[in-house]
Amino acid sequence: SQTESQILVIFGASGDLTKRKLIPALYELYLRNFLPQKFAVLGVSRTNLSDEDFRDKMTEFLPSAEEQKAQVNDFLDKLYYQPLATDDAYDYPILRDRLTTLAKQNTIAENFIFYLSTPPKLYDVIPANLASVDLNQTADGFRRLIIEKPFGTDLESAKRLNKKLLDYFEEEQIYRIDHYLGKESVQNMLVTRFANGIFEPIWNHNFIERVEITSAEALGVEERGGYYDNSGAMRDMVQNHLMQMVGMVAMEPPVVIEADAIRNEVLKVFQSLRPISEEDVVNNVIRGQYIESHIKGEAVKGYRDEKGVNPESRTETFFAMKFFIDNWRWSGVPFYIRTGKKLPTRVTEVVIHFKKTPHHLFGNLADDQHSHNQLVIRIQPDEGILLKFGMKVPGAGFNVQTVNMDFHYDELRNVHLPAAYERLLLDCMQGDATLYSRGDAVVKAWEFVQPILNAWANNPEIPVYGYPAGTWGPDVADQLIENGTWRYPCKNLSNDGNYC
Ligand code: BG6
Repeated sequence: SQTESQILVIFGASGDLTKRKLIPALYELYLRNFLPQKFAVLGVSRTNLSDEDFRDKMTEFLPSAEEQKAQVNDFLDKLYYQPLATDDAYDYPILRDRLTTLAKQNTIAENFIFYLSTPPKLYDVIPANLASVDLNQTADGFRRLIIEKPFGTDLESAKRLNKKLLDYFEEEQIYRIDHYLGKESVQNMLVTRFANGIFEPIWNHNFIERVEITSAEALGVEERGGYYDNSGAMRDMVQNHLMQMVGMVAMEPPVVIEADAIRNEVLKVFQSLRPISEEDVVNNVIRGQYIESHIKGEAVKGYRDEKGVNPESRTETFFAMKFFIDNWRWSGVPFYIRTGKKLPTRVTEVVIHFKKTPHHLFGNLADDQHSHNQLVIRIQPDEGILLKFGMKVPGAGFNVQTVNMDFHYDELRNVHLPAAYERLLLDCMQGDATLYSRGDAVVKAWEFVQPILNAWANNPEIPVYGYPAGTWGPDVADQLIENGTWRYPCKNLSNDGNYC
């Protein structure tokens, strides 16, 4: 659809996200002619930079090849910069004037998106300051606000933040980014489920034994020890990214593919989550922390030795959990989710385990292997879908083996797989909030996980299991699953010398 002329204002423009993700995503949109003819980006932050300095800084993650130079330069011409004390309302008339001038000079309509790529403590300050100079509302044109996670650090702060934002902006103007929803393969879950006659009829407790969602990372906390130590896997990955994936896997068919129709269904899933008791936290939640280890012969330090991390930290770098969705579709089906840093590989996937056949006809399989169909939706890397099923071993007798039907997105040659930020930025520019989290669902997701945080805070006896970097987390995580194990896309990297 048509993208109106507009200015994208990025707060926190001297930070990492801007040059690593946002500017490259905008450049891709530019190359593919998705940016409106009349368009500008105004970078804003405390650092004193000129337009030229800002453009220079932004080239780091743009193509450097000579053939692309003309295009890169043309794109860079759309970037501007305004130094600003973002926490100081007195500075905002400067911002308003700069925007008016920019719009006039470039004949851009006064449509503004404000992207908060700043520390979270500014999430309620900047909207208030924007409102102080009337940049939050307008009779003509639009004003939109994009905010990055974390949306609060617990249930109370999330509610407070929502309330504060709503003091200055309407819910329809607020775009909460969860970059997992921008991933092509996450969206494809809806298409897989609702565009195929074969899956949806069996997508329920009658045919599905359990659902497993894994989001593993090989990297550790890198340079973000300070942030991560106050966050941990639960706040960093589970409350947002993993819960959104649960929403996509578990929701009912929406009435139409539109923002509120889809987001209503996600909310309903969150409303049906069985509340977690402290006993559940003890029995059905595992937290772990990576300890030093050797990966492919090289020493890897433990989490507590990372820069910015408290040497006695109990912050979890691994999280696994079993829970239930108490509704008509999912009654009695356990959901298992897990995520962690310094695991053997980077992989995010959803695994649907189908029930066994009612009667076992073929003798060669152990009981737990009987026709154990799995549908694996690979979110990343190597996006695709894998269906596992039993086939006859050729030759004498009736022996069964498991075979794969495997689709990889990269087989769709000539198709550009947009990066998450590319998709999400364009959607916001076009006013489509479908792939953004709505305030009520964010609060519901917090409501669900808050008892876990409470139990950890109140009960020091709940263990934090160490796991050697390069393994799939603490072994006890396997005990969560009755009659089976997690799917392991590859083996542990340490100890036994098996490599991915
Ligand atoms: C971010 C988390 O939201 O998601 C990071 O803060 C994590 O800790 C990242 O590494 C994972 O995203 P992706 O797209 O690499 O799976």
